[in-house]
Amino acid sequence: MITDEIMKTVSKKIDNSTSLVFLTGAGISKESGIPTFRDHDGLWKTYDPAKLASYSSFITNPKLVWEFFHDRQKSISTKEPNKAHFAISEIELLKKSWLLTQNIDGLHSKAGTKNIIELHGNIFNVKCINCLRKEVLDINAEIPPLCRDCGSILKPDVILFEETLDMDNWDTAINLVSSCDVMVIIGTSLEVGPVNTLPNIAYKNNSFLIEINPQDTWFTPYADFSFRYSGSIILPKIVELLK
Ligand SMILES: NC(=O)c1ccc[n+]([C@@H]2O[C@H](COP(=O)([O-])OP(=O)(O)OC[C@H]3O[C@@H](n4cnc5c(N)ncnc54)[C@H](O)[C@@H]3O)[C@@H](O)[C@H]2O)c1
Ligand SMILES: [Zn+2]
Repeated sequence: MITDEIMKTVSKKIDNSTSLVFLTGAGISKESGIPTFRDHDGLWKTYDPAKLASYSSFITNPKLVWEFFHDRQKSISTKEPNKAHFAISEIELLKKSWLLTQNIDGLHSKAGTKNIIELHGNIFNVKCINCLRKEVLDINAEIPPLCRDCGSILKPDVILFEETLDMDNWDTAINLVSSCDVMVIIGTSLEVGPVNTLPNIAYKNNSFLIEINPQDTWFTPYADFSFRYSGSIILPKIVELLK
């Protein structure tokens, strides 16, 4: 049950915060029509992650991995942000905040949010595996696409299994969660490391923790408030109370 009382308390915490951080995962984009990984209808029930999303399989069979990503790129390019993405961009206009996302779909930017760290990269960018040059994906290019500078294979600029995160992004994320006073965690099972360690850091820092997810997660007992609802229900209510 979401009472007016609870909504007011949570919104007040956000309104009074001096350092607000959002952390989002695949669940926030589910209502935009993008499957999550671990829900009962999630992607990993259909595909084997070790075969399709690991760096070693990319090197062994780049064409196969590219075919998987190309399907996702084509599908995600047709998707639009939902009420939850838009609510976060509206909150950013009202309160200085930072958004850390595990999503690679670019929907937060499409919704207008500016202060974003895409911890797992962006499916619409590519990076050369040799000279590391980055560019925007040409969705019509033949796959696997090749680097125009050195001729090596370009890889979707997303973090595959066996790869580490971009160190600058990670340092910024750690600094943000080490100093935030409110953290809002939406649509993530918190099963993927190292990102799933970020809420713990905020917890140890006595940050006020709000979780929004229709399902419990291992982090639920540590949250000050856990909403068992979709982000598209709760976040617009917070926006209304902040206005
Ligand atoms: N849209 C995307 O960019 C996308 C899609 C699939 C996977 N991924 C990748 O999946 C990895 C896995 O971790 P994850 O934790 O992000 O996803 P996950 O699939 O492990 O978990 C999704 C979570 O979202 C919750 N959820 C479902 N519908 C929701 C809603 N309407 N509102 C709020 N929560 C909802 C589920 O209960 C679940 O806990 C990340 O590395 C990410 O890069 C990204
Ligand atoms: Zn190159």
